[in-house]
Amino acid sequence: MKKIFALILLFVTVQIQAQKFDGLAETPPMGWNSWNTFGTNINEQLVKDIADKFVELGLKDAGYEYIVLDDGWMAKERDENGNLVPDPVKFPNGMKAVADYVHSKGLKFGLYNCAGAQTCAGYPGSRGYEYQDARSYASWDVDYLKYDWCNTEKLNAEGAYMTMRDALKAAGRPVVFSICEWGDNEPWKWAKDIGHLWRVTGDIINCWDCEVGHGSWSSWGIWKIIDMRKDIRSAAGPGHWNDLDMMEVGNGMTDAEDRSHFAMWSIMTSPLIMGNDLRSATKETIKTLSNKEVVAINQDELGIQGFRFTNENGIEIWLKPLANNAWAMVFVNMKNEEVEIDFDFAKHDIGDDVHGRMLEPKHNVYSIRDLFNHKNLGDTSKSMKAKIGVHDVLMIKLEKK
Ligand code: GLA
Repeated sequence: MKKIFALILLFVTVQIQAQKFDGLAETPPMGWNSWNTFGTNINEQLVKDIADKFVELGLKDAGYEYIVLDDGWMAKERDENGNLVPDPVKFPNGMKAVADYVHSKGLKFGLYNCAGAQTCAGYPGSRGYEYQDARSYASWDVDYLKYDWCNTEKLNAEGAYMTMRDALKAAGRPVVFSICEWGDNEPWKWAKDIGHLWRVTGDIINCWDCEVGHGSWSSWGIWKIIDMRKDIRSAAGPGHWNDLDMMEVGNGMTDAEDRSHFAMWSIMTSPLIMGNDLRSATKETIKTLSNKEVVAINQDELGIQGFRFTNENGIEIWLKPLANNAWAMVFVNMKNEEVEIDFDFAKHDIGDDVHGRMLEPKHNVYSIRDLFNHKNLGDTSKSMKAKIGVHDVLMIKLEKK
């Protein structure tokens, strides 16, 4: 009898552990990550400054929540008990103090590690230390873990990410689990019950449509990422998102390109993780990042990832179904000259076959709201005319009248 009880208990325990934390990231996570701008050059003061800026610049109010330290926060060696140690120079008061500061602002705190023996920048990885590291994160009140894929020789990706998921679960503190294996093993096919978001490509770089080679791997411009992964939209939904990578808004593209980048990440329901230096960001950058009408498209409760309608004559047109039969629509000018569009809604009924939804301007009239200029543009009973600058975007919301 005792044996049977023990077996049932074991079974129940395993069942409880073998799940990710539910109820997290019900809409795409929003926040900031240190990597794109700072690399491993990070420290306590930077985190505090960023947290202050979240509040001061209205980013917290716009919905940004997580402040995530990427690679480079650790000392090069574990301590004598195998525990991870924050770099004592960069983080002289330890990680709990940093997390406490972030929490005191009503924000959440995240860290980075790697499934391999070492992180990509050569710091101690979690391979073989998963449960111990998860307990460290819990003891420091960490809310989000980005988990990378360098130095993972012969590891199986699904298995390695399951191990870390179970370790986080066992440590007991709810953590958003951000899978970062660059899409190499097609996580959109297996990671739904393991992580809350997963990277779908190699690293982003701050250009419109370039590929920058680094020998065995490449960095990808905005449109390379979009084109590569436009066909996996059925994998995204509340609690499990295709992650197009940390944004490059404010990192050197034109303001128009930044707006298009932000519009596309929003319509594709990607997590919105800023990657710029908020201490020196221009007004225009902050205006783009904190645009609540665009953020609302990304955060729509249905969590449906958008899709390409057409990309003819240098204009990309994308659509995304929203709650209450509303739709978001994006027109991006891919040309190096201003274009004039003239879109006759009455000619189009557009279906989203994957999610069984229809935009029906042939049979219904929808009001049109311009989300970057914050004004109403009439309705779909007339064709919509607009000028769009080089690499700029017109993003609209359509609501049934
Ligand atoms: C990989 C990831 C990046 C970043 C670096 C850190 O390249 O894809 O996002 O975390 O490692 O070394």
